[in-house]
Amino acid sequence: MLDAEVRELMQPFVLSDYQVQEVYSRFCLEVARGLKRSTHPQANVKCFPTYVQDLPTGDEMGKYLALDLGGTNFRVLLVSLKGHHDATVDSQIYAVPKDLMVGPGVDLFDHIAGCLAKFVEKHDMKTAYLPLGFTFSFPCVQLGLKEGILVRWTKGFDCAGVEGEDVGRMLHEAIQRRGDADIAVVAILNDTTGTLMSCAHRNADCRVGVIVGTGCNACYVEDVENVDLLRADFKKTKRSVIVNAEWGAFGEGGQLDFVRTEYDREVDEKSLNRSEQLFEKMTAGMYLGNLVRLVLLRALERKLIFKQSSRRPEFASVLQRNEEVFETRYISEIEDDSFPEFASTRKIVKNLFGLEKASVEDCQTLRYICECVAKRAATLVAIGVSGLVNRTSNRRVIVGMDGSVYRYHPKFDAYMRQTLQKLVKADKEWDIMLSEDGSGRGAALVAAVASKTK
Ligand code: BGC
Repeated sequence: MLDAEVRELMQPFVLSDYQVQEVYSRFCLEVARGLKRSTHPQANVKCFPTYVQDLPTGDEMGKYLALDLGGTNFRVLLVSLKGHHDATVDSQIYAVPKDLMVGPGVDLFDHIAGCLAKFVEKHDMKTAYLPLGFTFSFPCVQLGLKEGILVRWTKGFDCAGVEGEDVGRMLHEAIQRRGDADIAVVAILNDTTGTLMSCAHRNADCRVGVIVGTGCNACYVEDVENVDLLRADFKKTKRSVIVNAEWGAFGEGGQLDFVRTEYDREVDEKSLNRSEQLFEKMTAGMYLGNLVRLVLLRALERKLIFKQSSRRPEFASVLQRNEEVFETRYISEIEDDSFPEFASTRKIVKNLFGLEKASVEDCQTLRYICECVAKRAATLVAIGVSGLVNRTSNRRVIVGMDGSVYRYHPKFDAYMRQTLQKLVKADKEWDIMLSEDGSGRGAALVAAVASKTK
């Protein structure tokens, strides 16, 4: 049985129906403001047009390189599109050293170009002409398919000399500086666009792409006449365009203050990008573990967990020492654990605190804390998804999803569905689909579309 006091502790994380409705209305308003030229500068859901106007047909063919930068890892991929909705992917993961994440931008791009060169050499493609799709998962103003100006860094990146610059050009220049491969950057895309494209490659009804990973964001297909910021010449021949919502920034105008908790404020205050990406800080993998850590500290202080142990102050100091000690993946592992054995939960507790056999009650308390934090994240994501699904002109809408939190959390999908059922208009038929390698296959598909358009 859970203590009433534990429930009370977590109450601020439990969104009421009224709060869900209110966040939904505020979110929809911000999307509308982001799309309109007159309100766009003040809006915090920016709704950037991506210039991707053709969804894949499934017939795309050819070999493409793809780069994926934006999460914890950086990847280089070789994608072979084979027609008949089929593709194979060969990829290599490279670490992005912490000092490169916050060092000069040129160094970061030189590192990327270096990894790219190694990859091309390993695959014996040094002399081939290779079109490349660059999945760059940060807010960008796109001026066309292959020009993206970085608005600002998120997710722990902060490289000097990149904000305000065209990242396509910076990558191109880094490749040129090496001069050892014939690679052309033909498209820049967000990971949400990659997710939407890779799902649309499989299912023609996909209209929304969502990432809940290190960061959190979504894109969707909007009618061109609603997208003021799209250049007029792109409105003549095509009816729709993918819009990158950049919903991570939602709340920067105070819209979420009525649901943000003291823990959310602390996460924000200690972050690299203070007052920014407030919705992201309540939903994304980079922050969820830290939220649980802060709640745990409060629970220890109030003697709501590990009540029997005299070592509580020692546990608290473990949690205080490092913001990252409670990893977000623990949340998934704990919610996946079986009652009353709690084997994974006990292992996590032992590794963190050296406590041999946590009691069933402690495990339940910890699980409840994790559940409330994850469920609120899933509810918020679903509020955003509902807003976008309701905007699309299609009756049947598939939502393509990716990201480590969505993928590995055992109940994130189910939590999301509960809210979608409440908020998506009754005349819509919807479903969620897991993306298969959106950042790779999606990037190749955008590159293929770009080549076709050319
Ligand atoms: C970025 C988005 C990205 C998301 C998921 C956010 O921090 O602003 O562009 O799509 O993370 O990777």
